[in-house]
Amino acid sequence: MKETVILDRKFREMIPGEIIGKKIDEMAEKLNHDYAGKDVVFLGILNGAFLFAAELFKRINLKARISFVKLASYEGTKSSGSVKELIGWNEDISGMHVVVLEDIVDTGHTLELIIGELKVRKVADIRIATLLFKPKAYTKTIPLDYIGFEIPNDFVVGFGLDYDGYGRNLPSVYTLVK
Ligand code: IMP
Ligand code: MG
Repeated sequence: MKETVILDRKFREMIPGEIIGKKIDEMAEKLNHDYAGKDVVFLGILNGAFLFAAELFKRINLKARISFVKLASYEGTKSSGSVKELIGWNEDISGMHVVVLEDIVDTGHTLELIIGELKVRKVADIRIATLLFKPKAYTKTIPLDYIGFEIPNDFVVGFGLDYDGYGRNLPSVYTLVK
C-alpha cells in the first residue's frame, strides 16, 4: 500500500496513475467519437482540473479549443457570507459545443454555477466530463455525461486535487486515512 503524508494528514493510494491514464484514454475515445465533425471548446475549471484537462486534451483529435476559468470567492455585500463568481472568460463561446472539465464533482454546487453561466452565454450545448464523482455527496440533478471514477464520500488528493494547496502533483489519487 502506497502511503504519503501531506501537511498533518496521512493518505493512502486509491487509484494508481496508470489506471487513471487508461480511463482518460477511454474517455477521450468516447469524446472523439461523440463530437466527430463538430467544433468543440473544452472548458477546464481551475485549479483542480488542470492536470486532467491536459491529459485528456492531448488525446483529443477533434477540431478543438481549450480554455480555463476559475471560481473566485468574494465577500458579498449582504451578510449572507461569501459569493462565488467565475473569472477568466476571455473568448467567445456562443454557439459552441462545450465540454466542461472537472477534477471532481462533489455536492455539485460548482457545476450548477458553471452551467448557469454557460446558459447565459448561449452555447449550442453543454456536456460535463469529470475525472471523479462522489454520488453520495451529489445534491443536484444535472446529468454527468462522462465520469472517470465514482468514489466514496471521502476526501481525496492527487492528480490535480489538493489538500490546503498541496498534493496536486501526486500522479495517483490518494484517500485520507482516518
Ligand atoms: P462541489 O461544488 O461540492 O461539487 O465541489 C467543488 C470543489 O470542491 C471541487 O471542484 C474541488 O475543488 C473541491 N473538492 C471536493 N471534494 C474534494 C476532495 O475530496 N478533495 C479535494 N477537493 C475536493
Ligand atoms: Mg475544482
